[in-house]
Amino acid sequence: MDKGSTYEVRDLKLAEQGRKNITWAESQMGALLHIRERFGRQKPFAGIMIGMALHVTKETAVLVRTLVAGGAKVAITGCNPLSTQDDVAAALAEEGKDGSIAIYAHKGESKEDYYRYLNMVISQRPQMTIDDGCDLISEIHLRHPEIIPDLIGGCEETTTGVIRLKAMERDGALRYPIVAVNDNKTKHLLDNYYGTGQSTIDGILRGTSILIAGKTVVVVGYGSCGKGVSLRAHGLGANVIVTEVNAFRALQAKLDGFRVMPMVQAAPLGDIFVTVTGNKHVITLEHMQMMKHGAIVANSGHFDAEVDYAGLRNFATQVHEIRPLVEEFQLPSGRRIIALGQCRLVNLALAEGHPSEVMSTSFCGQALACEYLVQQKGKLKPGVLVLPESIDEEIAQLQLVALGVEIDILTDEQRKYLTSWQEGT
Ligand code: NAI
Repeated sequence: MDKGSTYEVRDLKLAEQGRKNITWAESQMGALLHIRERFGRQKPFAGIMIGMALHVTKETAVLVRTLVAGGAKVAITGCNPLSTQDDVAAALAEEGKDGSIAIYAHKGESKEDYYRYLNMVISQRPQMTIDDGCDLISEIHLRHPEIIPDLIGGCEETTTGVIRLKAMERDGALRYPIVAVNDNKTKHLLDNYYGTGQSTIDGILRGTSILIAGKTVVVVGYGSCGKGVSLRAHGLGANVIVTEVNAFRALQAKLDGFRVMPMVQAAPLGDIFVTVTGNKHVITLEHMQMMKHGAIVANSGHFDAEVDYAGLRNFATQVHEIRPLVEEFQLPSGRRIIALGQCRLVNLALAEGHPSEVMSTSFCGQALACEYLVQQKGKLKPGVLVLPESIDEEIAQLQLVALGVEIDILTDEQRKYLTSWQEGT
């Protein structure tokens, strides 16, 4: 491990490749670069320290550079032990030696390091936080409430984090305002739906290089992520089965053309299982014992609680690592089950997360949410809030420009028609 006063990363020698990867990401993140250019002129974060717990990927580095261009100092760690890209972390460590960025993260970090790094970020006394999964916010509330009075606000990136924040809000425990960036329409559409759809399949393919066509893929949960995964698996020729607990979502899956059934019925049928529920133990050891020989189990939900991976590990008579993060578990019955990425986010453990264009949209949301919080400083109450619709529209517009797409504009006649009630047939 390489350590300095502003960093703890795997190996600083990886920095050059990290810089190249960040440049490659930037080439596809035009919308965020547009915001960076404005921030560079206006410096909305002058003198503000932003603490971040986000997947340390090349796209996150582009967000970090954007906030720094806006005058911020940034202290960042990962939000999942397996998602850090070590070359990107090294590049940020080199870049931050001027005092602009502190970074503490490496791929495969222990739980102890994970929490030590969160605390190193907190020790920089951030005035704003950006979370993916709420771990930084909960660590601040549980162990460092002394920094809360200085916090202007925070942002949360994912569904699971927002669920936790709403639980804190319900309990009266949340003590500063948090923007649920996850709930931006633009974030949800591009990230949860298209992003998770593609990158989950990407993770499964990089881990196993199997043929998807003709396989039965069981998607557990038909929210935005589950819909995306189902769509892409179907597109590659898989027979998709969906399991759900929500009647409306199950109905939608059925009408989208997928088979819908309880997990106990799906378990013996699936070749590949993907969990995307944000829930706990949606695949149990009992389910795994019903699975076919060679079935592949992966999770793309935020936490590793979705599959009873620990139960599988204890129950198995043998574990064989086929390649890094691809493990084959021998069960007492003689059947083997393959688990990907220790059942942590498969798209980040085995692939590179979402495509840069997707993260550009999500991180436009983060950047503009931080700016909004600064503009509203002192006016917002503690709680979970969503960004004004106009900001979401601005993000969609920026992304369209980046993609070279033009759209029509309402005429005065049309605007009047849409806001009046007198005109009949
Ligand atoms: P969502 O809340 O829209 O959908 C989750 C679905 O799972 C719901 O329809 C719910 O009824 C269903 N579900 C809950 N328990 C279930 C059970 N026992 N069996 C079957 N279905 C069950 O959430 P969304 O936005 O789709 O996110 C899902 C998870 O993915 C979250 O943990 C989120 O944080 C994470 N996420 C992961 C990303 C990635 O890069 N891999 C990107 C974005 C979100």
